[in-house]
Amino acid sequence: MKPVLALLSLASLSAAAPNSSPFAQDELSRRADWPNGPFVTSGRWILDASGKNVTYAGANWPGHADVMIPEGLQYQSIESIVQKIKSLGMNAVRLTFAIQMVDEIYANGGNDITIQKAFVQALGQANGTRVLNQVLAKNPQFSATTTRLQVFDAVAAELAKQQIYLHLDNHVSKAMWCCSSTDGNSWWGDTYFSVANWTRGLAYMANHGKSWPALTSMGLRNEPREPTNNAALDRSSYNWQSWYEYMRQGAAAVHAANPAPLIFLSGLSFDTFLTPVVQGTALTPGSAVFSRADFPGYADKLVLELHNYENSIGSCASLQSNLLRDGFQALQGGSGINVFPVMMTEFGFQMDASTWRGVYASCLASFLPAQKAGWLIWVLAGSYYIRSGIQDYEEGWGLLNHDWSAWRSPSYVDGALKTMVRNTLS
Ligand SMILES: *[C@@H]1O[C@H](CO)[C@@H](O)[C@H](O)[C@H]1NC(C)=O
Ligand SMILES: *[C@@H]1O[C@H](CO)[C@@H](O)[C@H](O)[C@H]1NC(C)=O
Ligand SMILES: *[C@@H]1O[C@H](CO)[C@@H](O)[C@H](O)[C@H]1NC(C)=O
Repeated sequence: MKPVLALLSLASLSAAAPNSSPFAQDELSRRADWPNGPFVTSGRWILDASGKNVTYAGANWPGHADVMIPEGLQYQSIESIVQKIKSLGMNAVRLTFAIQMVDEIYANGGNDITIQKAFVQALGQANGTRVLNQVLAKNPQFSATTTRLQVFDAVAAELAKQQIYLHLDNHVSKAMWCCSSTDGNSWWGDTYFSVANWTRGLAYMANHGKSWPALTSMGLRNEPREPTNNAALDRSSYNWQSWYEYMRQGAAAVHAANPAPLIFLSGLSFDTFLTPVVQGTALTPGSAVFSRADFPGYADKLVLELHNYENSIGSCASLQSNLLRDGFQALQGGSGINVFPVMMTEFGFQMDASTWRGVYASCLASFLPAQKAGWLIWVLAGSYYIRSGIQDYEEGWGLLNHDWSAWRSPSYVDGALKTMVRNTLS
């Protein structure tokens, strides 16, 4: 709670609740000036409408997999899941969606399908019906005729109520566990990754998100990667020049549909590096370089996002120098460097009693707050409706246990995670 309060300006606190104290959660929830957007960037900082620094410390909440419904709702209510992350002091969620959800809305005359149909399609008649009934028991505001998008709406509303920023991420085109180089979702033009469906889907969700007060940013595409089973596409298109063309199209689609959210750009090789963008070198095989002028009217909306899963690295010094070279250098500037806010929108590891004490996790726990860089851990989950064909899949990297009722690694949460949140947001 404290880190979030620290982000509110004193002026707005006294203006909103002149006669009331203490600031009960209910009053804070009704505050008209949260999230105090739209956010813009200024150099390496993200600023709210009062010009105060904002960053994210939060978690990924998947909603892009086969069912296309945010995970965990057969075990817990939306409210209690949001309370869990709020209890850590976190202030952001990266909520993922699949373009397929929007494709199906268009294919269905503009109407989304019901959660009943979605569960049965993904899990089969018997299990789909059983899991739906579990969802309805835990979340009685829904019914069988509730649509998937209405579940996203309910998640967005609860995030706003508890003052958690919503970063909406396009994770995949075809709804499934992500990511491999051979899954048909890898690169623009891959089997399931239609450029036209993608820009249409981004625009649809950006426009829809106008009704979500918590929506502060959107990620154009999770983990672009080499289409290794598609040699022709790989040869002709997997490069920085094409990346730039598509990122500009995606950014334009989002901005035209909704000019408010920040727009996050992800890099090559599973979003592990953005070096040419940051260092201003040629976007090969062409010779053009990254230019803010190519994002007319919204150059101050762009944020860089990187992922890192160098889980077996042996030295923190190596990890830090890798991260700077991969793109975090954009926070520091220097000769020829394009300065941007940079966030680590995914990192994660096995949630047990010891992994968090290792080099990788402890290095990130110090590096990211020291850089005042935002981050979102993978993953706010305990299990998935279905992953890679296995139903009720156990997620060993999940912050939560199987039924999403308690922390999977209480020693990590109390020994490091809460401190990392506090040090990032203070
Ligand atoms: C943001 O915070 C940093 C230090 O944490 C400070 O140097 C910078 O001036 C701040 N920017 C604004 C606009 O408050
Ligand atoms: C249906 O759910 C049960 C219980 O979770 C599971 O054991 C079974 O494998 C599921 N069926 C299919 C087809 O996955
Ligand atoms: C694009 O969306 C349409 C529905 O509007 C769908 O029929 C088509 O399969 C989608 N394309 C891809 C590559 O998924």
